[in-house]
Amino acid sequence: MSGAILVLGATGNVGRPLVEALLARGERVKAASRTGKAVDGAEGVVFDFADPATFASAFAGVDRAFVMLPTGSTDPVGRLLPVIAAAAERKVKVVLLSVFGVDADDSIPYRQLELALERSGTAFVILRPNWFADNFHTFWKAGLDHGRIALPAAEGKSSFIDARDIAESAAAALASHSFDGKAYNLTGPEALGYADAAAILAAAVGKPVAYTPIDDDAFVAILTGAGVPQDYARFLASIFHPVREGWTAAVSDGVETLTGKPPRSLATYAQDNAARLKA
Ligand SMILES: NC(=O)c1ccc[n+]([C@@H]2O[C@H](COP(=O)([O-])OP(=O)(O)OC[C@H]3O[C@@H](n4cnc5c(N)ncnc54)[C@H](OP(=O)(O)O)[C@@H]3O)[C@@H](O)[C@H]2O)c1
Repeated sequence: MSGAILVLGATGNVGRPLVEALLARGERVKAASRTGKAVDGAEGVVFDFADPATFASAFAGVDRAFVMLPTGSTDPVGRLLPVIAAAAERKVKVVLLSVFGVDADDSIPYRQLELALERSGTAFVILRPNWFADNFHTFWKAGLDHGRIALPAAEGKSSFIDARDIAESAAAALASHSFDGKAYNLTGPEALGYADAAAILAAAVGKPVAYTPIDDDAFVAILTGAGVPQDYARFLASIFHPVREGWTAAVSDGVETLTGKPPRSLATYAQDNAARLKA
């Protein structure tokens, strides 16, 4: 493979460590975001999902692409189908960031997108990560600051995954043909409830953190009170249903298959991100 790799969302949670991992492998990277700023020494390129006029220059000289949807959008098909079509037209291999569990039902939008990619005729790898550990220093950080993580997760467990493990898995999928045509579930090494997670985070930040289970309406009220749009708050509440059902507790060997290394634990995530969790 001789062309460059286009990384969408290159300044985001997964994109930034992915750019770093690809540069460490000696790959040529085009780091895409709306600003088009350079990332960690990779050439920056302007790309906006909402503006197809930005696609051609982003894809110029590219033979592989990491395709993802930024946080805040609930329309993976509308947003990403045109990107997959642009990649397929150019015979660019796509490594798609999907979501854990979407293969349960072909009517789920992310699954429809996966199926469209499979039918597109271009080479692909599908990655389905579970809940990110990194949500604790982003989405749930305000609660952590008050020593209380309040979520509609009941006692459900999740095998939280560190974004660095998603990035390293994506780098492996982009750098090799060995994984083409397959889908991988990406999880951390163990299933933890939010009370377990709170105890791990408390040890890392050096102050008490408790988990309070709440219902969907209370959760939506907290989010909208913090400025999250109502429809996105409802969407976030809805994706805790699989957590309560225990469907996000599964542990997979996807990270180890792709990277040759076991995934990081939540304790390792918390130790390595202690400064961000405390900030
Ligand atoms: N969080 C979880 O627990 C979880 C679990 C499973 C799957 N996922 C999936 O992971 C994805 C989110 O990954 P992430 O956290 O790495 O994303 P993220 O950090 O929210 O992505 C932000 C990146 O996207 C870019 N971006 C934002 N709007 C854009 C636009 N209109 N056009 C082009 N680029 C744009 C941003 O740069 P600019 O702002 O400069 O454009 C930035 O580089 C979602 O698809 C989600 O479904 C998340």
